[in-house]
Parts: sequence; C-alpha cells; structure tokens
Amino acid sequence: MIICICRRINDQGVQAAIEAGARSPEAVQAHHGCEFNCGKCRNTMGEMISESVDAMPANIPLVAAE
Ligand code: FES
Repeated sequence: MIICICRRINDQGVQAAIEAGARSPEAVQAHHGCEFNCGKCRNTMGEMISESVDAMPANIPLVAAE
C-alpha cells in the first residue's frame, strides 16, 4: 500500500526505515533520500512508527536499586 504518494514510499518502505532506526516521519523520508512535499503522509507514518515501536521488545537493561 502506498503511504507517500509524492515520494512513492509504500508501507514496506516505511517499515524498512523504522527497522533501520527511523523514529519520525522526517527520518523515514530521509531514509529514502527525500523530504516531504505535501506532507499528507506525515500522520500515517507517525502512526506506523508508534505502532511499530510499541510492539518492539524493550531492550532496556534493568539495574538493581540500592
Ligand atoms: S504524500 Fe508524502 S509528501 Fe505528499
């Protein structure tokens, strides 16, 4: 499914950017070497980032309190 019509970025492209570390719609665009044109895809990308990051396992090391 196309997410960004202007830059022809589909959902797999957004997901690939997220897996590479993109945590903002701007970072997704940068991952693909472009910038926003109309910006209508910004909210959808943000939602995809939030959902993906929420689903990721936490890699925060636990430290015992003293
Ligand atoms: S739809 Fe993404 S910049 Fe226009």
